[in-house]
Amino acid sequence: MKKQQTILVTGATGAQGGSVARELLSNKKFNVRILTRNASSEIAKELQEEGAEIVTGDLNDRESLKKALKDVYGVFGVTSFWEHHEKECVLGKNLADAVKEAGIQHFVFSTLPNYSKISKGQFQVPHYDIKALLQEYTKSLGIPATFVHAAFYYENFLTFFPLQKDDNDNYFFGFPQGETKLAMASAADMGGVVSTIFNFPTEYIGRTVAVVGESRTCAEYAQIISKILRVNVQYKYIPGEEFAASGSLLAEEFASMFEVQRLFIPDHQLSLIESYGLNPSMQTFEKWLVNNKYRFNIQKTSIANRVSAQLA
Ligand SMILES: NC(=O)c1ccc[n+]([C@@H]2O[C@H](COP(=O)([O-])OP(=O)(O)OC[C@H]3O[C@@H](n4cnc5c(N)ncnc54)[C@H](OP(=O)(O)O)[C@@H]3O)[C@@H](O)[C@H]2O)c1
Repeated sequence: MKKQQTILVTGATGAQGGSVARELLSNKKFNVRILTRNASSEIAKELQEEGAEIVTGDLNDRESLKKALKDVYGVFGVTSFWEHHEKECVLGKNLADAVKEAGIQHFVFSTLPNYSKISKGQFQVPHYDIKALLQEYTKSLGIPATFVHAAFYYENFLTFFPLQKDDNDNYFFGFPQGETKLAMASAADMGGVVSTIFNFPTEYIGRTVAVVGESRTCAEYAQIISKILRVNVQYKYIPGEEFAASGSLLAEEFASMFEVQRLFIPDHQLSLIESYGLNPSMQTFEKWLVNNKYRFNIQKTSIANRVSAQLA
């Protein structure tokens, strides 16, 4: 019997890599090896129980990558800007160099478009621009690669952008996206897309795929949240300068990101079609909310909220 090929999944204890590792494990077509800095974490142990081989390593340690890549066919790569900031670039290059050296046959790398270029230098968005640079670097090495661009996670409503309450006790979320449609997807749906890409290397090597589960205005997302969580939620447009003025590095970064999307990226139709083609189980925002509403901490304090939600 032919020996199964192995795929190394980085970031498997996190959102995107976790989705990829679980999907590959459930499909049983490839052996799954995961790279983690902490093999004794709960998530690493869970993945091991599900059948993954665990290797301890660090994107900052090139020797550990060499060992992790021994006898590997394919690699899923993801890098964390939020933990490493500008150093993300070094870590991503370490991974690409190791992939090249190991002669990996299919590298699926989670990167993003270059927002500095798209906005003709008007905005710098390091967590996008660094990943775009990593994409270019990987191409320059001649690695057989597919690039996946994850849209704004639905899960951001549980992390970076939780619902807030205004002075009248009404829920809202606000950022500078304005009336331009915002591409979103569940990070949990990345695995279904990536697994199909690994199944069709000839078709997908050399391609970039944007993973999008929904493309709507923020006002429409607010209506869907109101309907599913049964509470009145409004979207508030906060202009970029105002959003950035809170002073934190993160606020400036996000303000510039939304500004590029608001001003330069109006349409995601083809990405939606391709994403659902690659992963027919992609979740719409409404479906994801139904599955995840228990994770929202909603307090229905005002009668007005309940009445308006029923009317919505
Ligand atoms: N939030 C969004 O809407 C969105 C959309 C598109 C793209 N992104 C991008 O997604 C990236 C993060 O992906 P995620 O959300 O899947 O991450 P995550 O859930 O925060 O998990 C981070 C993963 O990276 C691994 N990791 C971090 N540093 C490492 C290192 N030095 N060596 C080896 N592994 C390391 C961690 O593994 P261990 O701790 O086990 O070692 C963990 O599995 C960010 O760069 C962000 O820009 C986010």
